[in-house]
Amino acid sequence: MTLLVETQENLPPPKPIPRHKGHWLWGGTFDFQRNPAEFLLEAHEKYGDVFVTRVLTGQSYFIRDPEVVNAINVTHAKHIYKPKVVKQMWKPFLGDGLVPNDGDSWKRQHKLLMPGFHKTRVDAYAPTMAEYTADMVRSWTNGEQRDFRQEMAELTLRVVAKTLFDTDLAHDSETVHQAMDDICEALIDHAQTPIPTPRWWPSERNKRMVRALDAMDGVIERLVDARRKQNKDRGDLMSQVVFATDEQGSMSTKQMRDELMTLIFAGHETTAHTLTWAWYLLATNRDTLAKAQAELDQTLGGRAIGADDLPDLPYLEMCLKESLRRLPAVWIFAREAQTDLRLGDYFFPKGAILAISPLATGRNAKYFDNPLEYRPERWTRESERRLPRGAYVPFAGGPRVCLGKQFAMMEMRIILGTLIQNVDINLLDGFEPDFVANISLNPGERGMQMKVRFRDGAPVLTGDRETKPAISDTHAA
Ligand code: HEM
Repeated sequence: MTLLVETQENLPPPKPIPRHKGHWLWGGTFDFQRNPAEFLLEAHEKYGDVFVTRVLTGQSYFIRDPEVVNAINVTHAKHIYKPKVVKQMWKPFLGDGLVPNDGDSWKRQHKLLMPGFHKTRVDAYAPTMAEYTADMVRSWTNGEQRDFRQEMAELTLRVVAKTLFDTDLAHDSETVHQAMDDICEALIDHAQTPIPTPRWWPSERNKRMVRALDAMDGVIERLVDARRKQNKDRGDLMSQVVFATDEQGSMSTKQMRDELMTLIFAGHETTAHTLTWAWYLLATNRDTLAKAQAELDQTLGGRAIGADDLPDLPYLEMCLKESLRRLPAVWIFAREAQTDLRLGDYFFPKGAILAISPLATGRNAKYFDNPLEYRPERWTRESERRLPRGAYVPFAGGPRVCLGKQFAMMEMRIILGTLIQNVDINLLDGFEPDFVANISLNPGERGMQMKVRFRDGAPVLTGDRETKPAISDTHAA
């Protein structure tokens, strides 16, 4: 039972929430900054499913109790916004894009963008995803060493650019890659010290960040202008952003920029890192890999994957769901209570930061036995149905659920499936990745080192593929 504080007369008194005291002045701030994921996981083991500590000047509540998670995401979502401190961090990059937005402005933007993620639109991107993955595999040489994380970053950016802007980024790929790297670096800095740095601040890092933002703005502006001149819906997300209207008309040019920037951001590293962890988990669980291979070989008989094949590849989907439980790319997200709230058995005051970690919920042994074990078999329909709401939230939930969830799940199944069909999923001998929890959970600078080993008779290499048109051909007419 979850109720607002004003209507709680008949409820028992709230349960006390254990406090991590930490430093006498700074509370848990430094513990959290030093190694946030480790701190969080250890503290949940020590204090239970809800605990509180001071981070900077605010009280942060860390929550992995499914009932409370579900109340935050779903039942009480309208009383809970994105934290001011997080908005401040995103502001210079994403402006008022969908991720940091709230209230009526978020509602309007969400309504305008939603149709761009309709299943028929998303399904039309499948051939591009398959084709770009095949291009990547064909560019590899048997026996060479590659950083799989880097390969995925490039591939997913190419997919987002094609599906968002219907452009191959042929002229801009260098600019966009460099700009994205610089912006990500600046964001990590901001996350560690969330005091906004003004644009004029003369540090080298800040200058690089300003240059990167200007470069991205330039690319986006040019593409928006070109699309307006063409005045034609080409079936991509860009068309949705540029041509969508409601009773207030279309969105402002600034809002278009913010949404497009947000979609590039939300849609590329998340997917790249999820695939990187799926690769790692399959490489280190050979029986599971063999099962996934057998499913693909039996179902497709060496044919390339299309959107229609995905319902016939349940084990592939289970592998990804299990990866998202075990090592979720978005390992933490946060909200701020707009009023005093009673959620589940607990009381949270107005202004409380409510942090939910999909990494911590996925490790909760109450709902996932032997949680460190990578076991896709957990994800049968029946066991999913038994799982309480709020126990598994890699894409958040409720009104603020990831808008790109279907897009991402399709893209990841096509990419991972194509890879399993064509190459041996492995790690370089003796390689162990690092686990770095900053904006997203990633393997850090050493990446995910692998050795290219093609499988015999692989469809991409034998050229035994059904050629399907890319989205521009489907929609340009
Ligand atoms: C494995 C890949 C992905 C994961 C794990 C993921 C996860 C998430 C999570 C947890 C949120 C909520 C964040 C918060 O509330 O602070 C979110 C929001 C969002 N995601 Fe994703 N995401 C993924 C891929 C994508 C893709 C491919 C796109 C777009 C092409 C996308 C677009 C968005 C947008 C627009 C939002 C904001 C939704 C709103 O607040 O209305 N995401 N995502």
